Amino acid sequence: MPVLISLVNAPAAPVIDIRLLRSTAEKVLSLVGRPESELSILLVSDHEIAGLNRRFRNKKGPTNVLAFSQVEGQAIPRLPVTLLGDVVVSIDTAAREAAQENISVHSRITALLVHGILHLLGFDHERSAPDAREMAGRELDIMQELRNERRKRMTKLAINVDHVATIREARGGTEPDPVLAAGICELAGAEGIVVHLREDRRHIQDRDVTLLRQTVKTKLNLEMAAAKEIVDIALDLKPDMVTLVPEKRRELTTEGGLNVAGQKKKIKDVIAIMDKAGIPVSLFIDPAADQIKASRDAGATFVEIHTGRYAEATSRQERDKEFSLIADAAEMAFEAGLLVNAGHGLNYVNTARVAALETVEELSIGHAVMARAIFVGLDQAVREMLSLIPVD
Ligand code: PXP
Repeated sequence: MPVLISLVNAPAAPVIDIRLLRSTAEKVLSLVGRPESELSILLVSDHEIAGLNRRFRNKKGPTNVLAFSQVEGQAIPRLPVTLLGDVVVSIDTAAREAAQENISVHSRITALLVHGILHLLGFDHERSAPDAREMAGRELDIMQELRNERRKRMTKLAINVDHVATIREARGGTEPDPVLAAGICELAGAEGIVVHLREDRRHIQDRDVTLLRQTVKTKLNLEMAAAKEIVDIALDLKPDMVTLVPEKRRELTTEGGLNVAGQKKKIKDVIAIMDKAGIPVSLFIDPAADQIKASRDAGATFVEIHTGRYAEATSRQERDKEFSLIADAAEMAFEAGLLVNAGHGLNYVNTARVAALETVEELSIGHAVMARAIFVGLDQAVREMLSLIPVD
């Protein structure tokens, strides 16, 4: 593993998605032509970085990033793996700078990481004005390449199999089995399985999530309320990610997005708990700027933009208006450094337009696929949905 990330006396908040940071660092190493190099990233507090700043640079107070090269000190220079060195980032300073720039902490840390890595490769903005220009230019190029790369990524399809369990629960007993359905969806090309373990257990049961965890080969996304009982189950289960949704007992399906802006502390606490367990969190939100900002501040890795109002629009005008809210929200979340999913109410008519948004990572679709599966079979229903998603 070429990238080692350590938290050294790091502050408890904000939360950092370590897996996302590692994959970003690996991409940066590839972009600078050093994919095989070893890099150590230390995430520390202001207090910690101030100590290093004083000791090694004779400077007072904290800074945002420090880089310590290992290249000169390497004992055997012809080793195939080169040890690049350490990049030390203050999470406190990164968080303050992120708030000033209106971007996610992850985006700010990424920029600092790029800066640190360039230092390790010999760039030095303190050497001269042309050096400073060259380094700043390279930093901008790398940040742009990272953004382009994210935009180019193909939209993935995740299938929600809750309704298979709904049919099973209508009679009690064991059939049809959502676990078997998940396997069929994956064989047909779905790249993720989604289930909502509701507090009232109206469809998906504890047994289902346990078996799905053992059998899903792609990615298991557990939809859940931010409720203690379910949080504890998620911590035991360790799904590949969780999506926090609002949950009301009397609703037929999830109505509206999560009001993150109205309960920031609660959501932030759940994200921090999940983060400690290495579980990335997505927040299901309406396409609204305040919810995106609140999601970013709470430390979410993903947001899932609620497409329900677009799906339910009854006139072309209304549909266009709702679609542009989704497109704008996805763009805003993307630029804030959040990964963007979308879902709810998507079907064989309205999905293509959302899937074509280059900011959208993944679609979460359930009802329409299961409804079609009744007539054409689940395998074909998934394949037909996949055929609506552009391949490049
Ligand atoms: N995303 C979320 C957060 C949901 O709650 C649901 C419904 O369970 C979906 C996506 C899928 O919606 P649909 O079943 O309408 O495709």
